[in-house]
Amino acid sequence: MKTLILNGSPRADHGNTQLFIDHFQSGLTRPLSVRYILRENPEKLALEMHDYDTILLVMPLYIHAMPGIVMKLFEKLKPHPTNHKIKIGFIVQAGFIESSTARFLEQYLSSLANRLNYTYLGTVIKGDAAACSILPHFFFGKLFKQLKALGAYYEKNGSFNPLLVTKLGYPVDLSKFQVRLLESPLVKRLNQIGWNWILKRNGCFENRFDQPYL
Ligand SMILES: Cc1cc2nc3c(=O)[nH]c(=O)nc-3n(C[C@H](O)[C@H](O)[C@H](O)COP(=O)(O)O)c2cc1C
Repeated sequence: MKTLILNGSPRADHGNTQLFIDHFQSGLTRPLSVRYILRENPEKLALEMHDYDTILLVMPLYIHAMPGIVMKLFEKLKPHPTNHKIKIGFIVQAGFIESSTARFLEQYLSSLANRLNYTYLGTVIKGDAAACSILPHFFFGKLFKQLKALGAYYEKNGSFNPLLVTKLGYPVDLSKFQVRLLESPLVKRLNQIGWNWILKRNGCFENRFDQPYL
C-alpha cells in the first residue's frame, strides 16, 4: 500500500499541521513520505498523485474553508486515467473548539472524492488545535496519543479508526454552558492576554487595529 501524506498548510513544516503529521507518523513502524503543497507545482503534483494507492491530506481550517494552496491543487486534480482506484482521506485541524465549523469543508471533500472517482476514507476533524505549536507539548499529550493511535490503526487497516474520529471530533457543538464560559470576562481577558503576547512576540502589537483596506 503506497501512501503519500500531503501537508496543506501555508506554514508548511513549521505549523500545527506538521505536528499532526509527526504524531500520526509516530504510530507507524515505517514513516510515510510527506510532501508540502506550498512547495509544489500543483499541476505536477496532481499528476504524481496518480502513482499512489492512498493520499492522506492534512490541512488547517482557514476562514471556515481549505487554504488557497489546497484549492489550487484540487483545481488540477483529474480522475485516474486507468481503473486504478485511489483512496483519499483528510485530516483537518482548526482553532475553534467545535468540529461543526469544518462540516461544510467535510461535505466538499467527500463530494470531491466522489467526483474524482477516488475511494473516500473520511475526514478527521480536530478543533482547539491552534496552540499546539505555541504551548508546551504536555498540554496536548492526549491529542498526540490519539494521533499516534490513528497512525497505528491506519498502518494496520488502511483506514481511519471510527472511534478515534468521533473522539477527535468532540465537541461537535459547544454547549450553552461552554458558550457562557467563553463569554465570561475572565476567559475573555485571559484570551486577550494570550493573543497580545503573540502579537508582541511577532512585533505587530502596535498595528493590531490597522484596517489597510478601508
Ligand atoms: C488566516 C487564518 C484563518 C483561520 N481561520 C480559521 C477558521 O475559520 N476556523 C478555525 O477554527 N480556525 C481558523 N484558524 C486557525 C487555524 O486553523 C489553526 O491555527 C491551525 O492550527 C493552523 O495550522 P497551521 O499552523 O498548520 O497553519 C485560522 C488561522 C489563520 C492563520
